[in-house]
Amino acid sequence: MRTKFIAGNWKMNLTKTSSIELARGIARAIPNNVEVGIAPPFVYIDAVASAISGSKLLLGAQDAYCESGGAFTGEICVPMLKDLGVRFCLSGHSERRHILHETPDLVSKKARAIYSAGLIVIHCVGETLLERDSNETLNVVRSQLSELQPNIITDPNRLVIAYEPVWAIGTGRNATDQQAQEVHAFVRQTLAQMWNPDFAARVRIQYGGSLKPENAKGLLSQPDVDGGLIGGASLKADSFLAIVNAAAAIG
Ligand code: PGA
Repeated sequence: MRTKFIAGNWKMNLTKTSSIELARGIARAIPNNVEVGIAPPFVYIDAVASAISGSKLLLGAQDAYCESGGAFTGEICVPMLKDLGVRFCLSGHSERRHILHETPDLVSKKARAIYSAGLIVIHCVGETLLERDSNETLNVVRSQLSELQPNIITDPNRLVIAYEPVWAIGTGRNATDQQAQEVHAFVRQTLAQMWNPDFAARVRIQYGGSLKPENAKGLLSQPDVDGGLIGGASLKADSFLAIVNAAAAIG
């Protein structure tokens, strides 16, 4: 039985004060049967860590560099994040792939660095509209999953896959329940081939892309949807908690 995992990706939003307020609002309302996390911008992580200390809310980061220290101007490494109490970190978010032009090789190295340092890696995969329209969805997802190394990643509890169709991110247009389930089942089948069926059965697969209170119940009820990675709707405590509570009601 996989515990649902709802994570908020705050992206490049909020201020120090509003980050602390939002984090506190979420931390005090987490139900028992769901795992909940937030990924603030780097510069607010420390303040948010203090604000939520002692709560069950998991602290995350949106990105990390693949080296563990040194002359990499402007970058942040996983040991620094760990030092602040960060428990999970994203790799391969579509905005980093498409806007910041991260290559599959860099994404792969980042996923490895995050996992190897002892954090949970949330590895993001998903197709563009052009790729969906040309029936490339499953090929794209398979190739992005191949950035993960089964010889390095051995604990299924520290691997989460986020399926985020690029055409659904920040657009208000979500995948249908069936579209999400179809790709999630494919993700699990691919993980079973890369690792083994038992490992694949334990990995949480989140849906992301305009997940909001109105569509949360339908999407989160799908058999292979084990949570969500939320952007826009994670920036307000009430909408984020409505999604968290929808997940808790499904169990
Ligand atoms: P969205 O973003 O919920 O605003 O679509 C999701 C994400 O990019 O993780």
